[in-house]
Amino acid sequence: MKRFDANSTAEQVIEGISLEGKLAVVTGASSGLGIETCRVLASAGATVLMVARDEEKLEAVAAELQRQQPDAQFLTQRMDLADLDSVHSAATEILLYHSEIQLLINNAGVMACPLQRTKQDFEMQFGTNHLGHFLFTGLLSEALLEGAPGRVINLSSAGHKFARFNFDDPSYHHRDYDKWQAYGESKTANVLFTVGLDRRTRERGVRSFAVHPGAIMTNLGRHMDAADLATLNERSPSSKGLEFKTVEQGAATTVWAASSPQLSGRGGIYLEDCQIAAAAVEGKSTGVESYAVNPAAADRLWLLSEELVGQSFDY
Ligand SMILES: NC(=O)c1ccc[n+]([C@@H]2O[C@H](COP(=O)([O-])OP(=O)(O)OC[C@H]3O[C@@H](n4cnc5c(N)ncnc54)[C@H](OP(=O)(O)O)[C@@H]3O)[C@@H](O)[C@H]2O)c1
Repeated sequence: MKRFDANSTAEQVIEGISLEGKLAVVTGASSGLGIETCRVLASAGATVLMVARDEEKLEAVAAELQRQQPDAQFLTQRMDLADLDSVHSAATEILLYHSEIQLLINNAGVMACPLQRTKQDFEMQFGTNHLGHFLFTGLLSEALLEGAPGRVINLSSAGHKFARFNFDDPSYHHRDYDKWQAYGESKTANVLFTVGLDRRTRERGVRSFAVHPGAIMTNLGRHMDAADLATLNERSPSSKGLEFKTVEQGAATTVWAASSPQLSGRGGIYLEDCQIAAAAVEGKSTGVESYAVNPAAADRLWLLSEELVGQSFDY
């Protein structure tokens, strides 16, 4: 089998793989890695349901992808992950038309924003990156199980190394806000969710993967200033500082997670550079921290998330 690495592009990863007959739902489809992910999944024959919060932007991106690939199938759905009512409405509309889903790519995200709160008063990064996706996935779970075999891909980040998940105060009601810590906590939550979801659905053919896509210049950096970039560079163990990927390379691990036969029979794991990540080692920017794949913490987060979204998901 072909081996891919940090330089591989999403197009290279999908080469020779057909996704005909599969429905792929992709959040954060209006920008950056989401657009490239949609483009490449559709080029392999998947019907791609593009989900984003800004309808005008979403329709413009979908129209451009359709122009580039006239025979591909792109659908759109508006959803604001920072409003659980919007997540409920979007899932209801999707389920009206689709009883089976094979791929769910939970790609949308915000990074290092100033302290903001979602409509239901959760800290914005926790609420958007984790809780909104937790609810969205739960609401679509019946269609995912119906469409099995399938995969759920949760975009995490090497930023999960910034912080363990804080079970005592996930929304910063009782501690000083730190935008990077909050991002780290939300990205740790993405990995823990992957572990918890995979445990619950693997017997029924739905496997879950967490992905670190690399460092890519996208709109994700909209809240960053020069000082933030300098800090991230300093924190990078590489003597060259942060090494950036192109968007085409940045979408590769997501597309690999969604389609590679090399991952058959696997799940509940963290991927980077189109490989299964090793355990983290002190001083290295790669690898997954043990606290992010801890099954007890994954179950604890599952229960907390159910409580916060007001719904249980017992598959
Ligand atoms: N780029 C990197 O270096 C990097 C590194 C590690 C991990 N990641 C992860 O990769 C994923 C994609 O990031 P990206 O680099 O492509 O960033 P991006 O260009 O900023 O795209 C993020 C997407 O998420 C959407 N989004 C944000 N808040 C939302 C909300 N409340 N409801 C619905 N959608 C919302 C954005 O919508 P709008 O277009 O309306 O803003 C956009 O479509 C994220 O989960 C990120 O954490 C990226």
